Amino acid sequence: MSNSITCKNISMNFLDGSRKTSIIKNLNLQINQGDQAAILGQSGSGKSTLLNIMGGLMKPSNGTITVNGKNFLELDGKKLSRFRGENFGFIYQFHHLLKDFTAIENVMIPLQILGTERELAHSKAKKLLNKMGLKNRLDHRSADLSGGERQRVAIARAMIHKPKYIFADEPTGNLDKTTASKVFGIMNDMIGESNSSLIMVTHDIELADQFENKLILENGKIIH
Ligand SMILES: Nc1ncnc2c1ncn2[C@@H]1O[C@H](COP(=O)(O)OP(=O)(O)OP(=O)(O)O)[C@@H](O)[C@H]1O
Ligand SMILES: [Mg+2]
Repeated sequence: MSNSITCKNISMNFLDGSRKTSIIKNLNLQINQGDQAAILGQSGSGKSTLLNIMGGLMKPSNGTITVNGKNFLELDGKKLSRFRGENFGFIYQFHHLLKDFTAIENVMIPLQILGTERELAHSKAKKLLNKMGLKNRLDHRSADLSGGERQRVAIARAMIHKPKYIFADEPTGNLDKTTASKVFGIMNDMIGESNSSLIMVTHDIELADQFENKLILENGKIIH
């Protein structure tokens, strides 16, 4: 069984009162472990919805998803949380950091959930945040960080445990060009080291050009 995420006939409909809006329509997609894919598309085309479905944050209306041979949509509750914790890293479009926790505490969380002891989690998180240019922000509450600093903390949190699949929803959208390319370089290095996949939504065509696969979402389907 190949190591991949395979989406078959995925559909997603949202009910708005009595009106049904169909956002994803019978979409098929396979991303092999180690591959990188950029997802492009107009605002409102369903990029975040698709990423949320693949990352297990939302169940599709129809279709199947297999992750490394496992029927992913059958997982629920604790089993789903555990599977996600072990295999996935997710960078949300709007960060979702724990605002009363410091930068370093936020980044330590995925490791601690997987049982890494505190001291080791702390030193790994410190090292990664230093690389991200946040050396002097480790002990700031995330609520007191700038938008771009929060974005970098969110990236570190999604990658610290070296997950096999990293989903990133416009992760460099709030960063200036120089910081964005530096952070993207760090992400690339980490992905290469652990042979992980990066599935990234972006509006940045230049950034997308660096990906092996460019997928455009239009009318609920992927057009290449
Ligand atoms: N929970 C929901 N209920 C109803 N409609 C929704 C829901 N979530 C998303 N939608 C609708 O689905 C469409 C796609 O939303 P989505 O957030 O996936 O777009 P996107 O491609 O990520 O856009 P952007 O580039 O602006 O982030 C939008 O029209 C949105 O209003
Ligand atoms: Mg979006």
